[in-house]
Amino acid sequence: MSELDKITLTAGGKAFDLPVLQPTLGQPCVDIAALPKESGCFTFDPGFGATASTKSAITYIDGDAGVLLYRGYPIEQLAEKSSFLEVAYLLLNGELPSKEEFAGFEHAVSHHTMMHESLKHFFRGFHHDAHPMAMLAASVASLSAFYHDNLDVDDPADRKMAAIRLIAKMPTIAAACYRYSIGWPFSYPRNNLEYVERFLHMMFEVPSEPLQLNPVAAKALDLLFILHADHEQNASTSTVRLVGSTGANPYASVAAGITALWGPAHGGANEAVLKMLEEIGSPDNVESAVRRAKDKNDNFRLMGFGHRVYKNFDPRAKIIREMCHKVLAELGVNDPLLEVAMKLEEAALKDEYFVERKLYPNVDFYSGIIYKALRIPTEMFTVMFAIARTAGWIAHWIEQHETPGARIGRPRQLYTGSGVRDYVPVDKR
Ligand code: ACO
Repeated sequence: MSELDKITLTAGGKAFDLPVLQPTLGQPCVDIAALPKESGCFTFDPGFGATASTKSAITYIDGDAGVLLYRGYPIEQLAEKSSFLEVAYLLLNGELPSKEEFAGFEHAVSHHTMMHESLKHFFRGFHHDAHPMAMLAASVASLSAFYHDNLDVDDPADRKMAAIRLIAKMPTIAAACYRYSIGWPFSYPRNNLEYVERFLHMMFEVPSEPLQLNPVAAKALDLLFILHADHEQNASTSTVRLVGSTGANPYASVAAGITALWGPAHGGANEAVLKMLEEIGSPDNVESAVRRAKDKNDNFRLMGFGHRVYKNFDPRAKIIREMCHKVLAELGVNDPLLEVAMKLEEAALKDEYFVERKLYPNVDFYSGIIYKALRIPTEMFTVMFAIARTAGWIAHWIEQHETPGARIGRPRQLYTGSGVRDYVPVDKR
């Protein structure tokens, strides 16, 4: 780690000292807040490749070493030993819960799982083939219309209540999106089931016969939820924080995060990976797919490959890859797409183009194959991601509101438009 405490910038013969902020782990950051006043210049960093937008104590990533920590705990340990709901508690509260604390949290979450009956009417307004992410974003935004009595963003109790409601209701709303799209009646949450089982029950239960839940499926989904629960200042979390910085309520902020997650460069990649693997169709076509991905005149990219931060294996991808083989074997699923995925990974990892650019499989490369084995339809993949990431989004939203001196997020720009000119009446143009 650098021992620098300041860097000196020289501009127009004048020197400016910029303080260097030290993290507990990772790279230090140059504090440029005083630069515009001192030098008259802004900094330029499209895509935020070099800019830390906030301090945060929630999640740490070392992209070169392939390390991911939630509140200091390695993702590998949480994946092996924890549960999604315990991880959600950890992200929100900073510490692992005691038995009593966890029982209280689980009780609170289980008792806020129902959707307001009026929210169901909203669904009837959607076209039958609406994308579930569209229905999810709209439904979550609409939650602020139901809970306006507890919407004081400056009240810690209201903030906590919003966190519980969001984590509790997201699976219920997500299952409703799916059921609406296939014309099934909405299903009520069963509070005697655990978080992930309750969700699977709401997804697949039919009124006409009892549902036998498969413990292998529940365990696999719980693990996927742990891996997707947070990932520091990614595009959707930064969106939640930017919207949150305006004082917008938590449901509006998280709904914005859902829409940001939907894009194929972010959470939408899991759906895009499966569609890509289906299109490739056979291991014999892998070579030509890799060729296309390298061709700069072709828009085709290997979905599920590459990451802004990881320049090494995404540690989540390593866990999911291993789990994928295990889950398919345990469920007795023989999916030829797994063979295509493995051949594609092997070909890309050997290819100079991918090696040079440090492009490795990311969290979404194998997750779709597992979701498919769990009978989750492709269009629901990003919704699965959103259920899990809600824990991270709301933990960040709360951290933002607990941080004194927080300001509205307001980036600057490098203007490249016309200089000042006079209005010309239409008959003179
Ligand atoms: N296939 C082919 N080439 C790629 C890929 C890919 N998947 N990803 C990056 N590249 C190439 C770029 O063309 C670029 O090449 P160049 O240097 O010759 O111009 C170089 O690698 C660097 O890529 P950038 O796009 O500049 O990297 P950035 O950090 O901006 O983007 C991203 C990261 C969006 C994840 C990108 O790798 C991508 O589009 N991947 C596919 C989509 C995907 O899997 N997204 C999920 C990310 S994980 C998540 O959000 C859950």
